[in-house]
Amino acid sequence: MEEILEIYKTTTVNEVAVWFKAAKVSDFPKNGGACIKYNNKQIAVFNFERKQEWYACQNVCPHKMEMVLSRGMIGDQGGVPKVACPMHKKTFSLESGENLNGDLEPIATYPVKIEDGFVYIGFSE
Ligand code: FES
Repeated sequence: MEEILEIYKTTTVNEVAVWFKAAKVSDFPKNGGACIKYNNKQIAVFNFERKQEWYACQNVCPHKMEMVLSRGMIGDQGGVPKVACPMHKKTFSLESGENLNGDLEPIATYPVKIEDGFVYIGFSE
């Protein structure tokens, strides 16, 4: 199981080596998520329209290693954007990746930028 998690590593804006053109803005549901693939990674991308922000994180939930986070419910906890896993409602910060209602491993998060109607995800490799 750890092997799956090993390929995911939080990337900060300063660490971005590749801006991957994921899809059109219109391909993502408003206030919801969709899954994209980058090499061997599944990445959940969220169009958090209420906050006018976009977020990206690993799609695999560290609880039971299900590829489900893109189908999670997004929300806000004291100003921190979060996603709740649809399986057992573990919630994670979409900024730091921290598990907000437990002590699971943090999830990896990635920067997102929007240019000319397209969504780009930043990766360090
Ligand atoms: S698999 Fe995500 S909370 Fe259980």
